[in-house]
Amino acid sequence: MEFQKRSFFFSLLPVIASILLFFLKFSLKTAPSGCSLLPHNHYWISSKRIVTQDGVISGAVEIKDGKVFSLVKEEDWHGYIRNGHIVDFGEAVVMPGLIDVHAHLDDPGRDDWEGFPSGTRAAAAGGITTLIDMPLNSEPSTVSVETLKLKMNAAKNRIFVDVGFWGGLVPDNALNATALEGFLRAGVLGLKSFMCPSGINDFPMTNITHIKEGLSVLAKFKRPLLVHAEVQEDVVGESVEDDKNDARLYSTYLKTRPPSMEETAIRNLLTVSENTRAGGPSEGAHLHIVHLSDAQSSLDLLKKAKGRGDSISIETCPHYLSFSADEIPDGDTRFKCAPPIRDADNKEKLWEALTGGDIDMLSSDHSPSLPDLKLLQEGDFLKAWGGISSLQYVLPATWTSGRKYGVTLEQIASWWSEKPAKLAGQHLKGSIAVGNYADIVAWDPESEFDLDENHSSYIKHPSISAYMGRKLSGKVLATFVRGNLVYKEGEHAPAACGSRLLAQ
Ligand SMILES: *[C@@H]1O[C@H](CO)[C@@H](O)[C@H](O)[C@H]1NC(C)=O
Ligand SMILES: *[C@@H]1O[C@H](CO)[C@@H](O)[C@H](O)[C@H]1NC(C)=O
Ligand SMILES: *[C@@H]1O[C@H](CO)[C@@H](O)[C@H](O)[C@H]1NC(C)=O
Ligand SMILES: [Zn+2]
Repeated sequence: MEFQKRSFFFSLLPVIASILLFFLKFSLKTAPSGCSLLPHNHYWISSKRIVTQDGVISGAVEIKDGKVFSLVKEEDWHGYIRNGHIVDFGEAVVMPGLIDVHAHLDDPGRDDWEGFPSGTRAAAAGGITTLIDMPLNSEPSTVSVETLKLKMNAAKNRIFVDVGFWGGLVPDNALNATALEGFLRAGVLGLKSFMCPSGINDFPMTNITHIKEGLSVLAKFKRPLLVHAEVQEDVVGESVEDDKNDARLYSTYLKTRPPSMEETAIRNLLTVSENTRAGGPSEGAHLHIVHLSDAQSSLDLLKKAKGRGDSISIETCPHYLSFSADEIPDGDTRFKCAPPIRDADNKEKLWEALTGGDIDMLSSDHSPSLPDLKLLQEGDFLKAWGGISSLQYVLPATWTSGRKYGVTLEQIASWWSEKPAKLAGQHLKGSIAVGNYADIVAWDPESEFDLDENHSSYIKHPSISAYMGRKLSGKVLATFVRGNLVYKEGEHAPAACGSRLLAQ
C-alpha cells in the first residue's frame, strides 16, 4: 500500500514539474525584473509625435530586447501590432533620450556633493538616458588607469542610466604617450583639460604643449579632447581688489572673468587645432569647446577655424541661454559658474548661434557642491563655489526658453542626443532608429510646473539650483534606457541597471 502510494506520486512528478515550469516561465516573462517598471521585453511605444531622423511621425516604435526593432507609421501600425503590448503616450512627444556629455557626479570621494545613485536617478527623471561623467570633482580625479578603475567600481550597480567616463589630461600624463595610450585603451571616451585653474587640487591646468601632445595621442584612437577654454588674466583680478567692489554684486564677479579670457584661450587653442585637419599631424583627433559663454569674438574665431576645416565642435549650456547677468540678484551665488553668465545681448547671440548651427550641442555642466560651499558667506560671489546644479531640469529649461525662439523638436533632439552621441562615440545611441538602443524619453511640452520645494527633485541638493523657483514648461513622463522603463511619473525602477560605457 505504502509503496503504491509513493509510485503514484512519482508517476505524477513530470506533470507537477511541467506545471511548476509553466508558472516559472510565466512569472519570468511578466514580473518586473527590477530593471524596468514594465513587464515586457517586446512592446510598442506609440505617440502622435515621435521624433525620428526623418522628421516627426505619428505611429509606434517597436522595442525588442532593448533595441528599436521597427518604426511603424500610424496608417500601418494598427493591423501590424495585433496582440502586442502598447504603451501609448497620445499627443506627448516621444524623442531619443538626452545624452549629457558634461556632468560632474563627484563619485567616488565627494558623493555628499552628488554621487552616482542620486545623479542618475535625477538624470532618469529628466529624460537623460546617457551621461558622460567628468574626470574631476570626484576624489581622486580620473587621470590614470588606476583612478578609472575606482570610477568603474563606484558606478557598479549604482547607476540608473548609462554612464561613460571622460579622462583627465593633466601635466602628469600629457607628455607621456605611454600613460595616455594605456588610459585610452582602458576605455575613457576622450580627455578633458583646463586652460585655467580647475579649483580642484589633483586636476592641474594644462598649457598648449600638453594639449598639442594630447591631441596627437587622441588622433590614433579617434577620440576627442574637451577643453575648458578660459585663461587667467591676473591684471583683472588685481583691479577688482583695488576697486573694493562689493563681492555681493554679480557684476563684480563678472569683471573677474571677462570674455577676453575665453577669447585668449581660444586664440591659443587655434594654433594647435589645425593639426586635426584632414592630412594634418593629428588627423582623427577632435577638439570640443565645453560651455562656451562668449558669443562674440570667441565664437567668431571658432567659426573661422571650423570653416577652414579644423575638427572642432562647440557646446553651451541651458543656463547661458536661460539667464542674463542683469537679472541675477545681489548675493544669489546659485548663479555663479565659470565662464560666467553674461549680459542679455550675449544670450540673444548664443541663441542665434545655436539655432543657426554654429554651436553644435548642449550639455548640463551639472556641477553640484555642498550648500555650505555654494551659499557661503552671505552671498560672496568671489568665495562661493562655482557651478550650476541643473541635471534633472535641462530639458524643460531648454524648451522653456527655446520655444520663444521657435525651437523645433528636431533641434532639441539634435542638440541633446544626435550630436552628443557622435562626440561620445556612441554609434547605437542618439536617435530613434532601427537597430539603436531603445533609449527614449516621453515628455509633454505643453505641461507647466513650478520648480519649487514641492517638486520631486532627485539631485542631492536641489535648493542650490539656479532654476529653483522658476515656472518651467515640458514635463518628463517616462524614460526608457535600453528598453527598460527606468522612470515613470515620480517612480523609478527599483534596480540600478545602467551600463558603464567604455570605449572599445
Ligand atoms: C609614463 O607613464 C608610464 C605608465 O604610467 C610610467 O610607467 C612611466 O614611468 C612614465 N614615464 C615618465 C617619464 O614619467
Ligand atoms: C608646458 O609645461 C611643460 C611642463 O609640464 C613644459 O615642458 C612646456 O615647455 C610648457 N609649455 C609652454 C608653452 O609653456
Ligand atoms: C509646499 O507644500 C506645502 C504643504 O502643502 C506648502 O505649505 C508650501 O507652501 C508649498 N511650497 C511652495 C513653494 O508652494
Ligand atoms: Zn564642468
